[in-house]
Amino acid sequence: MQKIRKAVIPVAGFGTRFLPATKATPKEMMPIVDKPIIQYIVEEAVASGIETIIFVTGRHKRAIEDHFDYAPELEHALERAGKEEYVNIIREISDMADFVYIRQKEQLGLGHAILTAEHIVGNEPFAVLLGDELIINEENPGIKQLIDVYKKFGKSVIGTTDVPREETYKYGIIEGSEIERGIRLVNYLVEKPEPHEAPSTSAIIGRYVLTPNIFDALKRTPFGKGGELQLTDALMLLRQEEVIYSKDIEGIRHDTGNKLGYIKAILDFALRRPDTKDFVKELILEQAEKLKEEANSQT
Ligand code: G1P
Repeated sequence: MQKIRKAVIPVAGFGTRFLPATKATPKEMMPIVDKPIIQYIVEEAVASGIETIIFVTGRHKRAIEDHFDYAPELEHALERAGKEEYVNIIREISDMADFVYIRQKEQLGLGHAILTAEHIVGNEPFAVLLGDELIINEENPGIKQLIDVYKKFGKSVIGTTDVPREETYKYGIIEGSEIERGIRLVNYLVEKPEPHEAPSTSAIIGRYVLTPNIFDALKRTPFGKGGELQLTDALMLLRQEEVIYSKDIEGIRHDTGNKLGYIKAILDFALRRPDTKDFVKELILEQAEKLKEEANSQT
């Protein structure tokens, strides 16, 4: 069985939900406290054994390339200012993995983004991580949980979680037969079904391990929901040719692709970090007190 060495991370999206912040800055570079979202994603991949990160990128995304490159002028300036601790922090970012960039010239959907990486991935299984979902699990990183299932069965594995039925329209939904706790043999997949049409509430959460046969399936997949080439549709096609598994990912999940989820993620991370924890806790209690007083004065 081939080792999972490469991860594809699509980053070409416009980030419309965060305008004006994303007018000139990639949404992937927005920070959670002081680290950009994309760095958490790369760290998850690297902690799971990934050696090569393939960014499927687009126009106005130069900041991502710069972030994962050496910054000699900055390092020099920091050294001169006696701030060596920062020199290590910024250098380690570039040493984590090999970084490869490929431009997705047109935005024709997630499936199209994955297909764009075909000649760099080659004929080997690979991981996919989407930047909108942060998964916190220090002992057992999200994508590693899927790689472990791949090691057992040698087939594609999709990361899932159970969502409330009224939210199925936001996700790819899978229906499968549970073979072990949290692991299913996938029978059926559908992209963003309305709640009353969803075959289950098991949602795809932006982590995949895929066999290279997905590329051929993508080439045969017609454009689907939203006029885009959908990875979910290609997986449904692949499912007719080889078995696919799903695995419920264990850990805390944050959807940072929308404003409210982003705010929640910042609070959660700030409450975990030793340097911000006490301050933020106090701030929240203070605000809660104020809100209570306000509510009382209105009754
Ligand atoms: C994509 C996938 C969808 C998946 C989701 C997870 O949708 O197409 O199947 O559930 O990511 O974040 P997007 O959110 O990019 O529209």
